[in-house]
Amino acid sequence: MIQRYIQFLGLDDTVNLLKANEKPLIPSIRVNMLKISALDLKQRLEEKGFELEQIEWVPYGFNVIRESHNLGSSHEFLQGYYYLQNVASMLSAIILDPKPNEIVIDMCAAPGSKSTHVAQLMRNEGSLILIDKYKNRIPALETNLRRMGIINSIVLNMDSINLPKLKIYADKILLDAPCTGEGLIKQDPSRKKSKKMRDIEKMASIQKKLLKTGLNSLKEGGMLLYCTCSIAPEENELVVNEILSELDNFGITKISKNYGLKGLTEIFGNKLIEDLKLSQRLYPHIHDTIGFYFCLIKKN
Ligand SMILES: C[S@@+](CC[C@H](N)C(=O)[O-])C[C@H]1O[C@@H](n2cnc3c(N)ncnc32)[C@H](O)[C@@H]1O
Repeated sequence: MIQRYIQFLGLDDTVNLLKANEKPLIPSIRVNMLKISALDLKQRLEEKGFELEQIEWVPYGFNVIRESHNLGSSHEFLQGYYYLQNVASMLSAIILDPKPNEIVIDMCAAPGSKSTHVAQLMRNEGSLILIDKYKNRIPALETNLRRMGIINSIVLNMDSINLPKLKIYADKILLDAPCTGEGLIKQDPSRKKSKKMRDIEKMASIQKKLLKTGLNSLKEGGMLLYCTCSIAPEENELVVNEILSELDNFGITKISKNYGLKGLTEIFGNKLIEDLKLSQRLYPHIHDTIGFYFCLIKKN
């Protein structure tokens, strides 16, 4: 993996990435504006001894600089006033930009970090269809939906490959694809050794199938956000490149703000679709987040 990093990052950035992966993440929270304002929650937590710092990219997101008690068991957490979430994950719903009157599908929803945020941006209106293939992941999703007070969603325990059978065409689709989680090493050091090249290949094959299925379930003018918590080009640009080369009527769209670095347009000796430069990459050593990839695709 280190040799691969050197191929697409160069030596200096690879060293910096490996060093950054050794530093723990600052915990961060997303305020559930369906239940409380950002200001009110900040005041309540600060009165209890927490120290919060506004996240630049998310007006209702805070880094937790000092934790006076466990963030996952406070009264405010249990009441669904906030969700413990990394900023990279918060950006997914913000980039997708779902609206209250829309039909939105989250193809890989459990445990619901991004789904509950999507619902919040939809102001708990419209239709939010949440799918996950694995039954054992559904209870955590349902618990989070209940805790956060989400009422505009239905949960389906099925393989998203079967999405066309539902005959639903969406305004917005989130495909937070299953991945090797190469970008999560900062959060889970065991991933340094547990993922092999064959895992990347296996995931890439699933990701391509899911992306093609998702794109075919968009309305005209609809948008799909493809994202992963991996920095492997094989799970990101190469997936999008292969699928968009096969399909007509889809284009990569500019993300409204520059959060990360531009996506790769050349990798391992292959030249890719030029518009992949509109996709974005977040790195632990540059952005102080988990490693993440976003690509927003529009059906013309
Ligand atoms: C990266 S996780 C999703 C995390 C979630 N979006 C969140 O923010 O909390 C990927 C999810 O995809 C689910 N999954 C894997 N393959 C799937 C498939 N073929 N159809 C639907 N869900 C799938 C996994 O069970 C897992 O929950």
